[in-house]
Amino acid sequence: MEFEAIDPVEAYRRAVNPFRHDVIKAKGWPELFTGADGAYVTGADGRRYLDMLAQNGGATLGHRHPRVVEALTGVIRSGSPFLVPIGVPAASGLLAARLCDLAGADLERVYFCTGGSEAVENAMKFAMAATGRQGFVAFGEGFHGFTPGPLPLAGHDYWRRPVPHWTPEGRHRVPFGDVAALEKALAADDVAAVFVEPVQGLGGARVWDPQALREVADRCRAHGTLLICDEILTGIGRTGRWFGFQHAGVEPDLVVVSKGLSGGIAPVAAVLMTAQVHRSVYKSIASAYIHNSTFEGHLLGMTAGLTVLDVIEQEGVLEQAERTGALLRSRIEALAAEGLGVREVRGLGLLLGIRIEGLSAPDAPDGAAAVVDLMIERGVLLESAAHAQNWLRLTPPLTLSEESVEVFVTALRDSLLALDARG
Ligand SMILES: Cc1ncc(COP(=O)(O)O)c(C=O)c1O
Repeated sequence: MEFEAIDPVEAYRRAVNPFRHDVIKAKGWPELFTGADGAYVTGADGRRYLDMLAQNGGATLGHRHPRVVEALTGVIRSGSPFLVPIGVPAASGLLAARLCDLAGADLERVYFCTGGSEAVENAMKFAMAATGRQGFVAFGEGFHGFTPGPLPLAGHDYWRRPVPHWTPEGRHRVPFGDVAALEKALAADDVAAVFVEPVQGLGGARVWDPQALREVADRCRAHGTLLICDEILTGIGRTGRWFGFQHAGVEPDLVVVSKGLSGGIAPVAAVLMTAQVHRSVYKSIASAYIHNSTFEGHLLGMTAGLTVLDVIEQEGVLEQAERTGALLRSRIEALAAEGLGVREVRGLGLLLGIRIEGLSAPDAPDGAAAVVDLMIERGVLLESAAHAQNWLRLTPPLTLSEESVEVFVTALRDSLLALDARG
């Protein structure tokens, strides 16, 4: 088969998902990207775009960070096997130890896998094993994955539409931040674990109040329920700390991380847990292989992870994320003061949401979608939030420069003015 001769867009339409392409076409968005470097991606037509999505939060060091690319190229050329089911995958021990050191609390063991939903599924299994229970609780408009385990916990019906009949018992959704409702859900002492995103991502950059989060942790402990922090998006620096839960000082029993762990360059995810939780699955030599996966500890993911942690530590990326997040936020708040339709900015570090309302159609539910289209025309990629169409969501690289902040703010201001003029 002549690979080069096939039109990739046509092939995608035919064999993957024609509807995604229909949306892109209807919006007039760029169809194909062929280059990426730092905070910028390049369309097939040669046009450069500032990428304020950064792989939905995965490309934390920007695209193709030279040190990660070099480390991966080096390991591919080194002759090391990527995986041998007999023997110990050495790099995974190194990455696990680093992650546990950075996370603190009592997190001492790590199970590696390849994506966020898979990590959540695994965390659910470990929590069920450790507690002998099968209930789970999640908050408000949170999101924990697309697979059958976390799907009933999704705070938005949209994700559940393909399987409306999938309603396993013991899955509770309680309003965001509502500790009294949580207490009710935990009352029967049949809940294995409570899921918390320290800052809700798809829920529109909604930040947990540290005190409320501590109360959640206390309630969990009182009922013998485990606390799982879903840091698929917030982990590895996005909020300006290594992990979002560290802002509140809680001690989760399990933590799931993915997106930024490899800087978006290799598919990798991790489930951090206490030794006690780990022991409930791996009890003795008889259970050494009782839970694993083909790609567990794959050398490319582990190498990318170790290099990303080095870069973050050695290049002051956490401090940069905090600084740039504050700058970006203050520049957006200045637009709000100008009366340009920006009603609210929220989030932490470089996970931000912007509520847009009152422009050409004051009550239009899709104000943010119109801004997205105008921003893409102006060379900036971003998205409206999944939970509500009047929110924009931003997950730029943690290494975003001040100059790029200005590029973004100028494009946002121009777009808001253009929208206002239409009204
Ligand atoms: C907080 C959170 N949990 C879980 C997931 C699912 O991860 P994945 O898309 O890698 O399966 C996501 C994805 O966006 C997420 O943001």
